Amino acid sequence: METADFETELSLFKYDNLEQLPPEYRDLDEDERTDRIEAARAELGDDVVVLGHNYQRREIVEHADFVGDSYQLSKEAANADAKYVVFGGVTFMAESADIITGDDQTVVLPSMEASCPMAGMAEALQVDAAWEEITAAAPDADIVPITYMNSYADLKAFCAEQGGLVCTSSNAHRAFEWAFERGDKVLFLPDKHLGENTTHRLGMADSVAEWDPWDPEGKDAEAAAEADIVLWDGYCQVHERFRVDHVEQVRERYEDANVIVHPECRREVVEAADVAGSTATITRTVADADPGETWAVGTEIHLTNHLSRWHPDVNVVPLCGDACMDCNAMRQIDPNYLTWVLEELVAGRERNVIEVAPEEKELAKVALDRMLEV
Ligand code: 13P
Ligand code: SF4
Repeated sequence: METADFETELSLFKYDNLEQLPPEYRDLDEDERTDRIEAARAELGDDVVVLGHNYQRREIVEHADFVGDSYQLSKEAANADAKYVVFGGVTFMAESADIITGDDQTVVLPSMEASCPMAGMAEALQVDAAWEEITAAAPDADIVPITYMNSYADLKAFCAEQGGLVCTSSNAHRAFEWAFERGDKVLFLPDKHLGENTTHRLGMADSVAEWDPWDPEGKDAEAAAEADIVLWDGYCQVHERFRVDHVEQVRERYEDANVIVHPECRREVVEAADVAGSTATITRTVADADPGETWAVGTEIHLTNHLSRWHPDVNVVPLCGDACMDCNAMRQIDPNYLTWVLEELVAGRERNVIEVAPEEKELAKVALDRMLEV
């Protein structure tokens, strides 16, 4: 059975992607694959650590040494002294792991197709052009750029160069505070919803401008110059899908339902929910729930399914039912790819290595280190 067939109905973009795999790896069944992954891991011993983001499939998280949110996993990568870090996640996470780990460590992404579309919504050239326009319109302002972890290394490097930093969904508010201690304006990229949710949390929502790099009408440098906070118009299609009526319906259906969502959801959804937080917060909150409680979860469907499996005494329901999506980027990490990259390491061949260019790496590390300070 080709595992890429699993849950294809949940994906916005329905394509199976095993083409990059040698043919003999495309049809492994789960038992055989599990045996082979375990054998390869035993052979590699302490030389390998496998990290799994909370949105990875069950067949990946079951083989991971650490499962967590993007912030926790970058810390695990930094602490790992293994020669190989195999990252069950998406490109920007593997890049961050490469930036943080030592030069003698190699980061492997099982499938090179696992690229977060939101990270791709703020390309270096677009950001450079926007920066030029905004700084020209506000020549006396100190603008501090902040990029969400969900961005590529070149953008992290750009932020460091311009006196800014990186944040995750759990420390975005602290990153904004850090920035306003050092400057008088913030340019936040690429997730406008996390940006908006953060400005509300800080009580700064009345001085915000949006910057849409794809729409000539959406790039108003004068408005950006007047605002305290400029939000780049990027978004996550998995999280934008949740609406307030999903919250209302779930509350109607389950009396005493608790609603928890990721801060990449729209502002009004976060406002209607009981709790908003990173995938680690979501995981912890459901783990701490009392038996019999209902938690409606507004995030990527694999995490909701894991929580339901891990906590059978809690009633875990997907916030928008069958309309909840998986992340197409995350699902590219097919367990057959994991088998392949591990067996190749055993054979002495490094496949799908993620390596950030040295000059970018140094700067991006500055932006990540600043985040670890806040
Ligand atoms: P976390 O940082 O909460 O793990 O989220 C990463 C992500 O990609 C959410 O869509
Ligand atoms: Fe990117 Fe959204 Fe997938 Fe997270 S869930 S990796 S933000 S596309």
